[in-house]
Amino acid sequence: MQPVEIRKGIYWVGAIDWGIRSFHGYSTPRGTTYNAYLIRDKKTVLVDTVKSCKCDEMLARIRKVVDPAEIDIIVTNHVEMDHSGSLPRLSELCPSAEIVASAQGLKGLNEHFDLGSKVRAVKTGDKINIGRADLNFLLLPMLHWPDSMATYLPGEKFLFSNDAFGQHIASSERFDDELHSGILIEEAAKYYANIVMPFSKQVRKALEVLSDIQPKVIAPSHGIIWRDDTKGIADLYDKWSSGSYDRKVVVVYDTMWGSTEKMAVSVSDVFEEKGFSVIMRDLRTSHISDVITDVLTAEYVLVGSPTLNRNVMPNISAFLTYMKGLCPLKKKSFAFGSYGWSGESVKEIEKVLGDCGFDVLPGKRIKYCPNEDEDLFLKKELAEEIAF
Ligand code: FEO
Repeated sequence: MQPVEIRKGIYWVGAIDWGIRSFHGYSTPRGTTYNAYLIRDKKTVLVDTVKSCKCDEMLARIRKVVDPAEIDIIVTNHVEMDHSGSLPRLSELCPSAEIVASAQGLKGLNEHFDLGSKVRAVKTGDKINIGRADLNFLLLPMLHWPDSMATYLPGEKFLFSNDAFGQHIASSERFDDELHSGILIEEAAKYYANIVMPFSKQVRKALEVLSDIQPKVIAPSHGIIWRDDTKGIADLYDKWSSGSYDRKVVVVYDTMWGSTEKMAVSVSDVFEEKGFSVIMRDLRTSHISDVITDVLTAEYVLVGSPTLNRNVMPNISAFLTYMKGLCPLKKKSFAFGSYGWSGESVKEIEKVLGDCGFDVLPGKRIKYCPNEDEDLFLKKELAEEIAF
């Protein structure tokens, strides 16, 4: 349980959750971390805490640097309990510490806990002198909760960004230059798609501020700390929040007797022939949180389901609900599926694709099993409809 000194007097004192595999429904095959940071100056400051079940791990790291009773200020950048869950315990261990949060944050904390501590609400532009350094605050409402904010040390150009720029990775490495960049980008993209994507407008505002302050270190509340390539992750956030896409199609489907799967193969052929990168996602074997990561940078999202009880297959329904909530930007789409008699699936899918704000091309449905003529017709029609 060692702390990690990031810069002189700034320590990572968080906790590693090696075993978590579902983060409120988002699959986390690599686990995660809850990052807390300790600043030793004339005052001692803890920036964020950890999930309550990991409090002892955080305390063990803090105790290697300082007695927790000596903490003067606890900054709570975000109320969600993966970061605030240890506050009740800390309030007991450091009763003289002042809790600093946004006004919305303090309201949220009071609605979660009975802390009985000294509290201070801060807003963008506020500073608290802690000795050599000043804590600066930047409210980031709806990135990704109303209370969210970041804390910044201008002298060190050090940004504690909370959930923004995070990734769900459990590792003994703490920095971006210590892990394979492919893994980092994959997990940062998954995090963006599953947590941040609905708030892309707020991301764009935050990026403007970031370009002014040019942080040399971005220390998020999950995963590794960006110290080598802060520009790289800021550029990716710029791409993801702008809705810019790659020449890529995601074909998402479920199938009952294989007919909709055959249609999925046919439609993917059309795109492949036109030089698109194609990702096939059978929802019987793919997790929706991985599929939505593919959707993040796809130009087209194709969704296929046979008709089941005048609707779509349950996996498709779950995916569509999840995708609608996450608000992907600027997608083109269409629905397809086989049917036996009533054949509602395509219309049901189209309704949700429309609700997502996507361009929806006319859908395709085929009775029972697609034969060769129908398959060719489907391909020909699709090839004509799609503007390549
Ligand atoms: Fe990692 Fe919104 O909490």
